[in-house]
Amino acid sequence: MERSSPILQLIALFLLPYLFNHNLAYTTTDLRTDELSLLAFKSHITANSSHTTLGKNWTTKTSVCNWIGVTCGSRHRRVIALNISYMSLVGTIPPHIGNLSFLVSLNVSGNHFHGDLPQELTHLRRLRVIDLSNNSFAGELPRMWFGNMTDSLEELNLNFNNFSGIIPQEIGHLCNLRILNIRSNKLNGQIPASVLSQCSQLQELWLSHNNFSGTLPIEIGNMTQLQKFRASGNKITGTIPQEIGHLSNLRVFHMRDNLLSGQIPTSTLSQRSQLQELSLSINSFSGTLPKEIGNMSQLQKFWAYSNNITGMILIHVFLG
Ligand SMILES: *[C@@H]1O[C@H](CO)[C@@H](O)[C@H](O)[C@H]1NC(C)=O
Ligand SMILES: *[C@@H]1O[C@H](CO)[C@@H](O)[C@H](O)[C@H]1NC(C)=O
Ligand SMILES: *[C@@H]1O[C@H](CO)[C@@H](O)[C@H](O)[C@H]1NC(C)=O
Ligand SMILES: *[C@@H]1O[C@H](CO)[C@@H](O)[C@H](O)[C@H]1NC(C)=O
Ligand SMILES: *[C@@H]1O[C@H](CO)[C@@H](O)[C@H](O)[C@H]1NC(C)=O
Ligand SMILES: *[C@@H]1O[C@H](CO)[C@@H](O)[C@H](O)[C@H]1NC(C)=O
Ligand SMILES: *[C@@H]1O[C@H](CO)[C@@H](O)[C@H](O)[C@H]1NC(C)=O
Ligand SMILES: *[C@@H]1O[C@H](CO)[C@@H](O)[C@H](O)[C@H]1NC(C)=O
Ligand SMILES: *[C@@H]1O[C@H](CO)[C@@H](O)[C@H](O)[C@H]1NC(C)=O
Ligand SMILES: *[C@@H]1O[C@H](CO)[C@@H](O)[C@H](O)[C@H]1NC(C)=O
Ligand SMILES: *[C@@H]1O[C@H](CO)[C@@H](O)[C@H](O)[C@H]1NC(C)=O
Ligand SMILES: *[C@@H]1O[C@H](CO)[C@@H](O)[C@H](O)[C@H]1NC(C)=O
Repeated sequence: MERSSPILQLIALFLLPYLFNHNLAYTTTDLRTDELSLLAFKSHITANSSHTTLGKNWTTKTSVCNWIGVTCGSRHRRVIALNISYMSLVGTIPPHIGNLSFLVSLNVSGNHFHGDLPQELTHLRRLRVIDLSNNSFAGELPRMWFGNMTDSLEELNLNFNNFSGIIPQEIGHLCNLRILNIRSNKLNGQIPASVLSQCSQLQELWLSHNNFSGTLPIEIGNMTQLQKFRASGNKITGTIPQEIGHLSNLRVFHMRDNLLSGQIPTSTLSQRSQLQELSLSINSFSGTLPKEIGNMSQLQKFWAYSNNITGMILIHVFLG
């Protein structure tokens, strides 16, 4: 066997200390990356940045791990959570956010952020929570953003913004989503059936106060984990599909102020039902109130005013 060349031995000698300190060097360098990302974020806060708590606090004088709203991991000392909610911030979210590669949770709710959702957010493969609610984001929900988003995502809150257009099919790629909240935007079109059948892990789906139309797809019966479904204040037509009776975990079902008709489905109203809140007011339901409602042992709140249902007096008999 040949001896390794002296040059190689020399290289190995130089590499040894580097390899030894590799973890430390790696961490420090990358915490610097996190710092640069957040400083870029700060520079995109356009209004009152220097006057805000954040503007004064996010400086290189201290470690980024001490900055307000920033949480670092205890083991890796990298930024894992950013919570700058309700700080009266005005600005955009820059692409640099995509460099916070250890980020698990991003919460910017209750500010005045606007502009595009940066595609670079899809680089963050560890993200579990995104809360962009109650800001001024507008325009269509970006297909590519959903198509490429990490499937580690469990909670996505886009409520109280100005998003318009339809729900992109690509949202169905987020197969581990537990909570999807898009209430109070300007979304329209049908609730896509493919989304409902693909997002089988969804526990909470909030669609209220948009402009959705069309019928409730029967695929809603495939969302076996669903606990809370709220779609009040839309223009949803047709009947409530019987398949809803398959949802053995369903606790809250709000469909107030839509254009639903037909009978209130008795399949939802069995003794086994876990339903606690049922809101069907301001629709066009007809017929008589099914007497099965009296067997729903968990039911705490039931609203059905402003329909064409007879036998309303029974509510008091059964629930009183
Ligand atoms: C920015 O600061 C000015 C005065 O310092 C204040 O009048 C204004 O309301 C602030 N704007 C926001 C959005 O906080
Ligand atoms: C930033 O705020 C944190 C938490 O309130 C505090 O511990 C830290 O000292 C502040 N840093 C500066 C530079 O003001
Ligand atoms: C996020 O920050 C707000 C203050 O801005 C605080 O009230 C809230 O508890 C924080 N949430 C989490 C999950 O740390
Ligand atoms: C961070 O991201 C931006 C934009 O995506 C990129 O231009 C920049 O080179 C990155 N910076 C570092 C320090 O990685
Ligand atoms: C984001 O922060 C707000 C206010 O601090 C809080 O109410 C909300 O629950 C947080 N969002 C998530 C997903 O934790
Ligand atoms: C949205 O945030 C503003 C502060 O920016 C607050 O006054 C308002 O109550 C919030 N709205 C909701 C629905 O949370
Ligand atoms: C949404 O847009 C309307 C104008 O189209 C504007 O008046 C409203 O303030 C916007 N809402 C938010 C939360 O940005
Ligand atoms: C992911 O993003 C790339 C561009 O960055 C795009 O070409 C591709 O179609 C996207 N994938 C999905 C499934 O949306
Ligand atoms: C809601 O959708 C209907 C069509 O279904 C459309 O005519 C109407 O302009 C939309 N309203 C808003 C506020 O977007
Ligand atoms: C949805 O549930 C129905 C039964 O109600 C079943 O036939 C169908 O295969 C399911 N679809 C998916 C995509 O799981
Ligand atoms: C209600 O439950 C009782 C048993 O506790 C059963 O005998 C009755 O048939 C049920 N009524 C309806 C309408 O399902
Ligand atoms: C209400 O239902 C009755 C029959 O149950 C029917 O005659 C009447 O036309 C309906 N009214 C409306 C407004 O749908």
